[in-house]
Amino acid sequence: NYPFRRAAVLSDSYSTEASELADIEWDNLGFGFLPTDYMYMMKCTRGGNFSKGELQQFGKIELSPSAGVLNYGQGLFEGLKAYRKEDGNILLFRPEENALRMRLGAERMCMPSPTVEQFVEAVKATVLANKRWVPPSGKGSLYIRPLLMGSGAVLGLAPAPEYTFLIYVSPVGNYFKEGVAPIHLIVENELHRATPGGTGGVKTIGNYAAVLKAQSVAKAKGYSDVLYLDCVHKKYLEEVSSCNIFVVKGNVISTPAIKGTILPGITRKSIIDVARSRGFQVEERLVPVEELLDADEVFCTGTAVVVSPVGSITYKGERVSYGADGFGAVSQQLYSVLTRLQMGLIEDKMDWTVEL
Ligand code: COI
Repeated sequence: NYPFRRAAVLSDSYSTEASELADIEWDNLGFGFLPTDYMYMMKCTRGGNFSKGELQQFGKIELSPSAGVLNYGQGLFEGLKAYRKEDGNILLFRPEENALRMRLGAERMCMPSPTVEQFVEAVKATVLANKRWVPPSGKGSLYIRPLLMGSGAVLGLAPAPEYTFLIYVSPVGNYFKEGVAPIHLIVENELHRATPGGTGGVKTIGNYAAVLKAQSVAKAKGYSDVLYLDCVHKKYLEEVSSCNIFVVKGNVISTPAIKGTILPGITRKSIIDVARSRGFQVEERLVPVEELLDADEVFCTGTAVVVSPVGSITYKGERVSYGADGFGAVSQQLYSVLTRLQMGLIEDKMDWTVEL
């Protein structure tokens, strides 16, 4: 299924090659990593500011075995997407929101971070340099992965003396192997993703390593992913390994409130605004797991997963199913509005998209 037909040809002049499309099978994109042409790098020493960054040919990076990120997990990441419009131009979706979230996360992780302007300019430069990897309209998107890491050497536990901001990109299609079909979740009863006072509310790399165990067990049993409960009461919905969760009942759409253990998803926030603008009542609150039992629809949101309908949830051995194994009407409506906006197919009244 690997969609490469031939390896990327690197060139010093990205502006000429960027005008063509890469030679891959655009119909077969999943959510796997494909190396592209360029990455962006910018460095900063502790106490200083990030110096001017630069594009480099995509490749391996050099890190001290003693780097803070490798030893103590001092790292953050972001995720956003670029879409090719029907006229060939490229749209970014709310990149300044990712920049702001990285700045909040950096504060929690004792790291300096790029300014919003530095972040957005770096994203634009990286996407333009890799333009030929932005899928044709309707075939997927270019996933943009900014990283911020303690790259300086440490031995005793302390913030690293040097930081690297790096962006790489990869063309992607659907995140789940189900494609746009509903996913099947299992509620995790033992392991937890985040704790009050911890780092669940920021996009630090360790939050994602922490869910791999439960996720692997769930996948081995045939589930798509894991839904976590709060670790204090083991009663309230938190989020899925890689995305936020929404529960629909009639005209009311509920989602766990942001309270330190939940990632403030940019797709989550956008869907809340889209839903309200279309007359739904959206409640951000504690959502007891029992509400899954009589929900009309459940869906997940995230940059990678976009809006993914949930077909069933298994909790303490009981399986609750939603809909007739298709997109529920509410999830479908919200997915459609969001993706048409992201792809430039409808007017962007919210001023969320940035055209390159
Ligand atoms: C995203 O949705 O962009 C994320 O960061 C989740 C990641 C696990 C793919």
